[in-house]
Amino acid sequence: MQTADALSRMSGLSRLEARMLLVRVLGRPTEWLLAHGDEPVAPELSEAFLSLAARRRQGEPMAYLVGEREFMGHAFVVTPCVLIPRPETELLVEAAIQAIIDSRSPAILDLGTGSGAVAISLALARPDARVSATDISPDAIAVAQGNARRLGARVQWWQGSWYGALPPESRFDLIVSNPPYVSSGDPHLAQGDLRFEPAMALTDGDDGLSALRQIVSGAGAHLASGGSVWLEHGFDQANAVRSLLVTAGYNHVVTMVDLAGHDRITGGTLSL
Ligand SMILES: C[S@@+](CC[C@H](N)C(=O)[O-])C[C@H]1O[C@@H](n2cnc3c(N)ncnc32)[C@H](O)[C@@H]1O
Repeated sequence: MQTADALSRMSGLSRLEARMLLVRVLGRPTEWLLAHGDEPVAPELSEAFLSLAARRRQGEPMAYLVGEREFMGHAFVVTPCVLIPRPETELLVEAAIQAIIDSRSPAILDLGTGSGAVAISLALARPDARVSATDISPDAIAVAQGNARRLGARVQWWQGSWYGALPPESRFDLIVSNPPYVSSGDPHLAQGDLRFEPAMALTDGDDGLSALRQIVSGAGAHLASGGSVWLEHGFDQANAVRSLLVTAGYNHVVTMVDLAGHDRITGGTLSL
């Protein structure tokens, strides 16, 4: 039988990645592993670890292999049915929290919720809010519902395409979205983690702006007066998104940069 330390060395992974996979397979905390790395590991667990290590060497994202990713300090279960929540999307949540800071029991809508990372983080940050979330993928909605249950968040889920998923009369004080905004020809789609994520979470199959256009054009019919929209977009799409919002009559249209210094989110307010 191999020890955990030996398995780590023979995995071909970095020490950190091997440790994360061992923690997952052994079902023990990191502290235990650090103290017991010289103990033999049962053959079936060694095999499970080596199979995960092989998948990692093929480039499969760690988040799918360990089944979890942290976002806004909460652990979200992720499966290959959903986008792995990105650190830059935390900026969207922070801007959203600011946008409703003075509202009591605000109604919030998250369009294209995926794992539920944005909707659930908002519901946990503002337990008085009435949070709704949509996704076109029933599998994503199931993952998001599971996350809400585990994290104790109250969110109403709707499956369908953008606003078509909602009752027509629904109105919100805030609409947020991190829609698919990679253009169909972008070579990044064939690289890194993106190869393993659902295509419909990444690309609109068009110029990268078609989902953003649909979301802005439909928002007016679902915003309460004085309501805001905040959208995540590509680093080179800020001008286009600002222009969509200004043309649709939004005020206070601003873009914010992420920690890497890239234009990442744009929002505005609509006074009806
Ligand atoms: C970039 S992912 C964002 C996921 C999550 N909000 C996050 O930030 O981690 C985009 C999401 O939009 C969903 N989506 C794509 N087309 C859609 C549509 N027409 N209507 C609703 N959701 C859609 C995808 O299934 C995916 O979950």
